Amino acid sequence: MANTISPDILDRLRQAALEAQSRSYSPYSKFPVGAALWTDSGKIVSGCNVENASYGLTRCAEQTAIQRCVAEGAGKPLAVVVVGNTDVPLTPCGACRQILAEFTPEMQVICFSRSGASATFTMKELLPGAFDREGLEGGGA
Ligand code: THU
Repeated sequence: MANTISPDILDRLRQAALEAQSRSYSPYSKFPVGAALWTDSGKIVSGCNVENASYGLTRCAEQTAIQRCVAEGAGKPLAVVVVGNTDVPLTPCGACRQILAEFTPEMQVICFSRSGASATFTMKELLPGAFDREGLEGGGA
């Protein structure tokens, strides 16, 4: 796969995602999530879920990472690591798949469980037929 990252970068991404997860603001769900992006500028940008008393305003970890990445001009995200306190590797929710796919349809997605078990996907596997810019112009999958 074109975007496969090295074991060293994967380890750094996982550490960054775990640090972000430790800063999660999730008093309602008590379900902390961390994410870390690897960009084509060689930067790591992390995010955590940020909940709200108005539940629907909650932002997922992947979304905060993408927003930071764009705001900081950190480059195009090539890969994302997601960590959760789950028994099986935590995969991004549907909304996050759409938001990640906006920037990199071929993004590598590496998901980790609490124990460090991982599962790797491409964004196309996680969100086939994503609505995208072409769809806005009348084309599409
Ligand atoms: N959450 C994420 O941060 N990312 C996902 O991909 C799945 C869900 C968060 C949102 C909410 O704060 C908590 O996990 C429970 O749904």
